Amino acid sequence: EAFDVMVVGSCMTDLVSQAPRLPKAGETIHGHKFFIGFGGKGANQCVQAARLGAKTAMVCKVGKDFFGDNYIQNFKDSGVHTDFVGQSSDAATGAASIIVNDAGENAIVIVAGANMLLGSEELQEALPAISHAKVLVCQLEISPQTSLQALRMAQGNKVKTIFNPAPAIPDLDPDFYRASDVFCCNESEAELLTGSSVANVEEAHRASQELLKRGCGSVIITLGPQGCVVLKAQELTLKHVPAPPVTAVDTTGAGDSFIGALAFYMAHYPTMPLEEMARRANQVAGVSVQAVGTQASFPFKKDLSAELF
Ligand code: RIB
Ligand code: NA
Repeated sequence: EAFDVMVVGSCMTDLVSQAPRLPKAGETIHGHKFFIGFGGKGANQCVQAARLGAKTAMVCKVGKDFFGDNYIQNFKDSGVHTDFVGQSSDAATGAASIIVNDAGENAIVIVAGANMLLGSEELQEALPAISHAKVLVCQLEISPQTSLQALRMAQGNKVKTIFNPAPAIPDLDPDFYRASDVFCCNESEAELLTGSSVANVEEAHRASQELLKRGCGSVIITLGPQGCVVLKAQELTLKHVPAPPVTAVDTTGAGDSFIGALAFYMAHYPTMPLEEMARRANQVAGVSVQAVGTQASFPFKKDLSAELF
């Protein structure tokens, strides 16, 4: 049984406080709501792909603790295959402290914990599945070496790769670009990676050209309410794909919803133009920003218009 989408990446328990604004250093402010949710960029992307109908498997590590047990149950409830979800007693399940302000913006601190213990041994165990998957997705909330090894494994087996360099690191190993069929990041990550401002469509176009030169197959830079830009190596035509206008309540995980949707489309409609996949993924992510939480806000196939399938 081959998987449509496999994710080698992170799981985090999201500890979310909603407050009127983000606090300053040394300041205490009152928030109005607290909740715990399932997050982590890797798991978020995997769950979004599963909710759209992809057959998914997650390769990750959680702690042997309450949060880890709960997370495994969450994967089962979401229809995500858990044979490659490991549990370790050497570190705690990853956690993310998140503050969301009234504008729907957020600030996040992650403590990766058990995520950092995912390594080559676990990848070797997953290799038979990875080599038969349609799409493999990686991010940077686990050890970068593990992500890179997973991408190379996939590429070596002609499995399509999506790499999301989040959270971005300034000294990203250049091999990540060559190992990415689709390199997908947001404006702040593009800024960090290129060293130039990415504040509008024009600047995003320039940044995507710079990133493409580094060796990836295609580049997508997401721009929040402005949608995204798409640049393909074979065509060299820049496309701006606008997003539907929505009122944002909580944008946490919107990028993950986009990437999970993109992975679903790449697996299910491999000949669809990338900009059309991006247009549809914009709509999926647009639904997610209109409700609070990360995975809690991700739509299912049944919630979406039939024209997206
Ligand atoms: O991208 C959103 C995610 O980033 C959150 O779910 C949080 O866990 C952090 O990893
Ligand atoms: Na949301």
